[in-house]
Amino acid sequence: MPIVRGKKIEVLFSADEIRQRNSQIAEEIVLGELNNPLVVSILKGSFVFAADLIRALHKAGLSPEVEFISVSSYGAGTKAGKPVVLRDIESDVNGRDVLLIDDILESGGTLKFTRELMLDRGANRVAIAVLLEKPMRLKADIKADYVGFDCPDQFVVGYGMDVGHAFRELPFVGVVTGDA
Ligand code: IMP
Ligand code: MG
Repeated sequence: MPIVRGKKIEVLFSADEIRQRNSQIAEEIVLGELNNPLVVSILKGSFVFAADLIRALHKAGLSPEVEFISVSSYGAGTKAGKPVVLRDIESDVNGRDVLLIDDILESGGTLKFTRELMLDRGANRVAIAVLLEKPMRLKADIKADYVGFDCPDQFVVGYGMDVGHAFRELPFVGVVTGDA
């Protein structure tokens, strides 16, 4: 079991598994209905997945524009509230097909808010790609079009995702199981 920063981390999805799944998702996206999509990566958690997925899209024959938006549902505390835009995209989405990329679909609040924001701005179509989905946690009326893996009901880290700003750099997705 990997040990990082003095913590034992159990690997749930290895770097190899993620790489293979990203290629499959990219093929699905290319065969889907999006026309010249604008990729919008939701920061911070999705930046590693988005970076790998756009290169998988390139291999699959798609050359998308890429934008970043930072949406947070967490204020000073840890209780989830209404999502707010902390940093916005720069492109006009009016009339565009948008592919939103996020790390995890959990309650769905973040993606529902961001999807509606793009549609309010005149996006023609909004599709959603997430690396992980926790179906047992879903509250909002929202569905991902492309899902990497079903995630167990555990707090995961790595591959862009953090706990207390740590572990984003791990090449795999795992769960902190205790001190080493
Ligand atoms: P929700 O779908 O609005 O509840 O929030 C999803 C967001 O919460 C994701 O984009 C992640 O940034 C964060 N999140 C949810 N579950 C986890 C987890 O297990 N590890 C790390 N971040 C998580
Ligand atoms: Mg996030």
